[in-house]
Amino acid sequence: MRTAILGTGSFTPKKVLTNLDLEKIVDTTDEWIRTRTGIVERRISDENTPSSELALPAARNALDMAGLKATDLDAIIVATVTPDYVFPSTACLLQHKLGANKIMAYDSSAGCTGFIYVLVQADAMIKAGMAKYVLDVGVEELTKITNWDDRASCVLFGDGAGAVVLGPSVETKNEDAGILATYTASDGSLGDLLIQYGGGSAMPASHKTVDENLHTIYMVGNEVFKHAVRSMEEAALKGLELSGVSMDDLDWLIPHQANIRIIDFLARRLKLPMEKVVVTIDKYGNTSASSIPLALDDAVRDGRIKSGDNVLMVAFGAGFTWGSVVVRWL
Ligand code: UT7
Repeated sequence: MRTAILGTGSFTPKKVLTNLDLEKIVDTTDEWIRTRTGIVERRISDENTPSSELALPAARNALDMAGLKATDLDAIIVATVTPDYVFPSTACLLQHKLGANKIMAYDSSAGCTGFIYVLVQADAMIKAGMAKYVLDVGVEELTKITNWDDRASCVLFGDGAGAVVLGPSVETKNEDAGILATYTASDGSLGDLLIQYGGGSAMPASHKTVDENLHTIYMVGNEVFKHAVRSMEEAALKGLELSGVSMDDLDWLIPHQANIRIIDFLARRLKLPMEKVVVTIDKYGNTSASSIPLALDDAVRDGRIKSGDNVLMVAFGAGFTWGSVVVRWL
């Protein structure tokens, strides 16, 4: 028995922040951002719209595609580093907003690898018979924790949500479809290279943490870049090896969208033409845990991903964390 992805959904705020807009905020240029990152624009949520409000339409779209109701769900897992509150979890807020039953609902924090981690959790729950239908969401409002004084990082991030509904493949038209392999890893010794220092128990919110901008993303970009390149290649190769899918049989790569140069590098290492790579970084920027489900939903809804296709999703992020999931499309 496999865990199949029964439906996908996504949602992004309407407001667009272009590179030209950023030229007015920090010392940067459209040309630098395009050539160094591949980003052209990103979406930005308003102050009255928390992450759960982006997650809600994404989740409803995924449920619709799956042909299920919120009351059919057995668990909700939300991957995010920008929850509405530290607690209660965004997953619990979503459980209420969706009108789901009183099911297990919790958030998972694994940075930009968050969506891969929650897929692995849902896969295990469904295979163990603990849950039949699970809603996995990746949602972020990174622009709310962006340091707008740091030109090296503020040009990168955007807001958005992506969701999938998972269930047992035996209940579908294609028992062979579903998650073929998963791979996850972490290395906490490098956590300081990508971190939000303020607001936790190590550095509770204070006048000092606010004055020193410690509630925003701190990133040593070029160091993170080197680790991202290496770890994403490792995760991609491990995932493929465990799945038994050969490079020739791989139809789609959906990498975490952090930098087009990382994506290009990965595609070259896998000897995969860019036509087989789903890229959304130009229009959404880096949306952390929501980048993979956003890209997945784009490619499913525009018909690129078809029944029987082998899809490799691979991510790297804060922690450090990295991992991959190989899935045969329903
Ligand atoms: O999503 C989780 C994982 N995150 C990632 O994987 C992000 C990985 N890192 C990156 O994508 C890249 O490191 C960045 C896009 C963040 C930065 O690109 P880079 O090529 O590594 O640039 P750099 O930090 O080495 O800086 C090169 C130059 C510096 O100038 P000097 O010292 O050479 O004169 C920076 O000051 O580029 C300058 N620079 C900028 N110039 C114009 C940095 N940011 C900007 C900017 N506009 N926005």
